[in-house]
Amino acid sequence: MKNYFRKHKLALGSLAVLGLLNICQANNDMDSYIDDLMTRMTIAEKVGQLNQAAIGFDVTGPHTSTHVEDKIRNGLIGSILNSHTVPVVRTLQKMAVEETRLHIPLLFGYDVIHGHSTIFPIPLGISASWDLDAIETSASIAAAEASSQGLNWTFSPMVDIARDPRWGRVAEGAGEDSYYGSLVAAAMVRGYQGSDLSATNTILACVKHFGLYGAAIAGRDYNTVDMSLVQMYEDYLPPYQAAVEAGVGSAMTSFNDINGVPATGNKWLLTSLLRDDWKFDGFVVTDYNAIAEMIAHGYSPDGYYAAKSALDAGVDMDMVDECFLHNLEKLVTDGKISESQIDTACRRILEAKYKLGLFADPYHYLDQDRADSEILKKENRDFARELAQKSCVLLKNQNSVLPLTNGAKIALVGPLANTRFDLLGCWWAAGSEDSVVSVYDGLKNAVGSENIILARGADVSDDKFLIDRMGGGIARDGRPAEEMLNEAIAAAQQSDIIVAVVGEHSSMSGEAKSRTDISIPESQQRLMRALKQTGKPLVLVLMNGRPLALEWEYANADAILETWFAGVEGGNAIADVLCGKYNPSGKLTMSFPLNAGQIPVYYNIKSTGRPFNPGDNALYRSAYIDAANEPLLPFGFGLSYTSFEYSNITLDKNTLTSDGKITATVTITNTGDKTGIETVQLYTRDMFASITPPLKRLRSFERVTLAAGESKAVTFEITEPMLRFYNSKLEHLSEPGEFRLYIGTNSRDCKEASFQLK
Ligand code: BGC
Repeated sequence: MKNYFRKHKLALGSLAVLGLLNICQANNDMDSYIDDLMTRMTIAEKVGQLNQAAIGFDVTGPHTSTHVEDKIRNGLIGSILNSHTVPVVRTLQKMAVEETRLHIPLLFGYDVIHGHSTIFPIPLGISASWDLDAIETSASIAAAEASSQGLNWTFSPMVDIARDPRWGRVAEGAGEDSYYGSLVAAAMVRGYQGSDLSATNTILACVKHFGLYGAAIAGRDYNTVDMSLVQMYEDYLPPYQAAVEAGVGSAMTSFNDINGVPATGNKWLLTSLLRDDWKFDGFVVTDYNAIAEMIAHGYSPDGYYAAKSALDAGVDMDMVDECFLHNLEKLVTDGKISESQIDTACRRILEAKYKLGLFADPYHYLDQDRADSEILKKENRDFARELAQKSCVLLKNQNSVLPLTNGAKIALVGPLANTRFDLLGCWWAAGSEDSVVSVYDGLKNAVGSENIILARGADVSDDKFLIDRMGGGIARDGRPAEEMLNEAIAAAQQSDIIVAVVGEHSSMSGEAKSRTDISIPESQQRLMRALKQTGKPLVLVLMNGRPLALEWEYANADAILETWFAGVEGGNAIADVLCGKYNPSGKLTMSFPLNAGQIPVYYNIKSTGRPFNPGDNALYRSAYIDAANEPLLPFGFGLSYTSFEYSNITLDKNTLTSDGKITATVTITNTGDKTGIETVQLYTRDMFASITPPLKRLRSFERVTLAAGESKAVTFEITEPMLRFYNSKLEHLSEPGEFRLYIGTNSRDCKEASFQLK
């Protein structure tokens, strides 16, 4: 005990309070501790626990909180978002535990989405690694850093399945597939929460945005979602459920309505499904201002009824809008809700605080020494570099133009070649531009500045409408476009190869960053066309937070490397890949459409009654007459500097029984001259079912490393549960009959076999 107080340098005046808390904590289990506490709480204090206020570093919604310190002192706030660092959190926590009647500690939440200070690639990029262990490690590093600065709760993982790249928030998720998205969701929850939530280096995770936020109509953020139950269960709900099964401690409602009822007031969603069916035992927080927004949805006439709908639906904590704070007591007095509803919500929040160890020691996350040694430490940066390497996806490499030849003179051009800020992507938490290695710096580290001629070439965009809509948030050079272009052409002419770093400004994706045109902005297209005309080999390094429409680029560039927004070590990692120190291994987790007109575009489409076969004409077929049906680059696609060959599939039997298994084997051979990593993907197709089945469903995958010339047999076990789907009664089952099995390098290019399910 003495050591504890010495370690935390607490004022003597606080000893009595904290000693009491510690003793209570040590001698009681959670239920009796909370029972006892709640008998002493007034209804106002209980409602206070349900209230989250935003102060500090970031404001992520239209309103922010006021008089926060007074409210903390009066027991009217249960959680703070957007405040971190040891001194700031200590000051606020002290108000809660030392200046309030009941000394209840605060929860501190923040959007630690892809790293805290050591920023990793954006989540869509990380997902392209297909490396679940690495994904889990990234979350545990984020938790260790965030917790060292006083945070105990992250609003992550974001697991919204998205098939529409116009939606800017695809950057924050793991792509379009629910099976893979579920594995990523569970890995992240494990990473953040670890095996002991009360440890100082783990934090509470929050699965979001519940639910179906990724299905906003037309990809316009916050828009309506209207969806059949079968599609929900099959394609959109599994990742949320996977997070719940992994033990996620909290869930966040989404902004959208679902079939006419806003998620934040949706009792079916938040109670029947989440609690009754999935047995979620954490607490539910709204998204920012989402209770009040039910008024604008046209669902609630005012804050009073909005608060009632949210509490009735199963919301426990109100993020920022104070609808609970101002209305719940009155709703009880008016007999519209019961006090026991408030008790239930309050208890869930207190339980989270208890599990985090905050009653035992409200300051246990606060340790400046730990923060100093943890934040951006070398191991974290090294890991960030590895993860960024693994997240890069090689989209094209004609005539093996990559890796770059030793000693080649490189024209490094493009508005994103020498930026640090953009590599942080959206939601950079405590990340700072100063900690980022740009592509220019990374390439200089790798090949020396004497081999590089740098030229900006263009601004990211000069589209006035876009710039105005973004409130001017796109850095521009200020020089005339012509001057920048000529400089880039001159650089190209003096070089052996052009590396053009192009794409989106980091703030063109993320929340409220929907686009109707997902191509690279015209200012950069002009640059690329001019570079092409120089006749020099053209390598595109893409930075973007969503799949882009790359038809011209794919036809005209010699090589394309997708790097997303690659985080603090992005520049080094990109240079590692460009120079061949790391052989690219990433695979897309979202299809890249030919053009925005194909959207929504995803691999697990259905056949339709009039399927279109390549070579047919489109008359009375399910096809476009002006473009192919297929995306430019399918889900699961990604090249390597080496090549892999797949043998045919062998099955140990052709009939599967409900309790049996089939072993499917393919032999993969590395037919190139470099060691490489291949993610072998297994898909199934039900040929006939009571719900029309998709053409393919990802069911398993394996990442294998093969030395040049090496062959490996990769085996998968097929069992009946892998073949299940949701029928019209929402039963998860399989139906007997013929199945196709596909194993391959992406969702398009596969070997095929078939078997019967008895
Ligand atoms: C976003 C959430 C985020 C919250 C708190 C909202 O605008 O939709 O994803 O967690 O703000 O910052």
